[in-house]
Amino acid sequence: MTDTQAPNPVRVDQTEPATPKAATHIKMSARDVNVFYGATHAIKDVSIDVDMENVTAFIGPSGCGKSTFLRTLNRMNDTIPIAKVTGDITLDGEDIYSPQMDVVQLRARVGMVFQKPNPFPKSIYENVAYGPRIHGLAPNKGAMDQIVEQSLKRAGLWDEVKDRLHDSGTALSGGQQQRLCIARAIAVDPEVILMDEPCSALDPIATAKIEELIHALRGKYAIVIVTHNMQQAARVSQKTAFFHLGNLVEYGETSDIFTNPREERTKDYITGRYG
Ligand SMILES: Nc1ncnc2c1ncn2[C@@H]1O[C@H](COP(=O)(O)OP(=O)(O)OP(=O)(O)O)[C@@H](O)[C@H]1O
Ligand SMILES: [Mg+2]
Repeated sequence: MTDTQAPNPVRVDQTEPATPKAATHIKMSARDVNVFYGATHAIKDVSIDVDMENVTAFIGPSGCGKSTFLRTLNRMNDTIPIAKVTGDITLDGEDIYSPQMDVVQLRARVGMVFQKPNPFPKSIYENVAYGPRIHGLAPNKGAMDQIVEQSLKRAGLWDEVKDRLHDSGTALSGGQQQRLCIARAIAVDPEVILMDEPCSALDPIATAKIEELIHALRGKYAIVIVTHNMQQAARVSQKTAFFHLGNLVEYGETSDIFTNPREERTKDYITGRYG
């Protein structure tokens, strides 16, 4: 698939789950997902498909549930005691909330990159090697060196750090730290990468690097990015989901959402009328 291909006419909303193009590989599916924090109903009956071929952007005003919903996709909400999730979420058809699901394994398959870069207080090398070691992905030092190099290359950071792999990860610039966190996620060979406002703490140059990286990684991993930056959503994604007050209001081709939204609430948001 290329950027120049005609837009997919298929649109999705909550009552009418996606009918994908034949060639689209649906990686994750959510059906009728609700999230409660005690009495707060943060996500309301959300159904959505995330595919391998497109980068999916989640947009919407602050507090509308973007991070909450993103966290349901790799069970990060499990770490919040008052959070309760209902509904179905599958990864390649497998129920990720089933009691048989190994959550540590799941979070390797569905990696996450946060708003604030959070490298471990360890060397650059160790930041990347940590996950593969835990998961037993490298039989020896040579194999580990290769995983570290390849992950840093894929994250667009290798040339900047190859001569100082044993310096601390926390000594890197913010943009470099964020790419290190992406390398760390990539190192365990994930299938999906979730990014929650990955550029909001970065300057425009570091932001541009992350956006280039997202382009380069598209198709290798299913990618979901939460962003408040409309231009960024338009630049990096091919699908956009607009959330408002816990509802998924509209989901479709990014070009349609930005030029021809179906819902008044979407239009109001993207034209800056509220948010
Ligand atoms: N750990 C938590 N405990 C209780 N309530 C929470 C928690 N996290 C989020 N909420 C509530 O859930 C709702 C959705 O919050 P969420 O952080 O998902 O929004 P968001 O769209 O990511 O916002 P932002 O754009 O500001 O990051 C809000 O009402 C918020 O107060
Ligand atoms: Mg958030």
